[in-house]
Amino acid sequence: MYNIEIPDDEILKKIETPLMHNFVKISSKEDPTKFCIMPQHFADNYLERIKNMEIFEDDIWVVTFPKCGTTWTQEMTWMIGHNLDYKTSLEVQLDERFPFVEAGGLTTLIPVDTFEKTKNMPRPRFIKSHLPLFLLPDQLWTVKPKIVYVARNPKDTAVSWYHHHRNLHGYQGTKADFIEAFGKDLVLFSPMNNHVIDFWNIRFQQNILFLFFEDMKRNLSQEVKKVMKFMEKDYSQDEIDKLCVHLSFDSIKNNKMVNKEGDIKYLMETTGREYNPQNYTFIRKGKVGGYKKELTVEENDILDEYIKKAEFEIEYQF
Ligand code: A3P
Repeated sequence: MYNIEIPDDEILKKIETPLMHNFVKISSKEDPTKFCIMPQHFADNYLERIKNMEIFEDDIWVVTFPKCGTTWTQEMTWMIGHNLDYKTSLEVQLDERFPFVEAGGLTTLIPVDTFEKTKNMPRPRFIKSHLPLFLLPDQLWTVKPKIVYVARNPKDTAVSWYHHHRNLHGYQGTKADFIEAFGKDLVLFSPMNNHVIDFWNIRFQQNILFLFFEDMKRNLSQEVKKVMKFMEKDYSQDEIDKLCVHLSFDSIKNNKMVNKEGDIKYLMETTGREYNPQNYTFIRKGKVGGYKKELTVEENDILDEYIKKAEFEIEYQF
């Protein structure tokens, strides 16, 4: 079903980190244009189990390329799906309410079988994944549970992914190398373009809701209403306004159930580093166009070229 090979490009070695390494390219035997860069550990221990996972009609999935606003969308979706249960949301870690199915396949340092954990969640299960469409469970396309997909400007995504690599994964290389690898579709979960295009192409299916990070920034209340309609929920304008405050950047940044402070501290300390929230927080800047202050002209050109490749297929909202 899959070909698994090590891409022959030096840049791949350069972007390996103490936490994430031994990258392989997993491609579909039927259609080799479908591929994804993942750690060998994922290929050995999670790939088949996820592909064959039993899916239920009442599952709710949030699927994204990393750094497109996954966490933000998860909290929004979970709250809307749970009758605005602030009490539980402020007491239970998001990752416990809404597990990340393939997380344990990314590094052996995550001491949990996240596939089993996710599979055994009480229904309705709320499930996060960064996997591209062709690696997601087959039953998603027959059982058709609700899937919320979020896309973001690839430039802001690449910059955010770079900071995530530096701070969470222990990446010590340069931003230039990271952006080069991103443009060559050789970072973890690459390619971003195909990831987005595959969901863009099915965005009108009834069980798919396709959102943009930039729309959530522009008009959160409007996007909340879209999710409410999709999840067949009805809340008053006051309730929506209150939810938007709960989901605002400052609130999410300071919400210890959502801001992943514990995970970051664990990963940093296990890889011999000291956690200092002054240097990095997972909920980092939350800006549209923040890349303008961070990319060099050359890096910006690489990503312009990258976006051009997808331009005919996706109308990015920026
Ligand atoms: P930046 O690194 O650009 O700040 P993910 O959850 O997919 O990893 O995405 C993380 C990105 O979403 C980070 O982007 C983070 O700051 C941003 N984010 C999370 N919550 C947000 C919010 N309430 N408002 C705006 N951006 C938010």
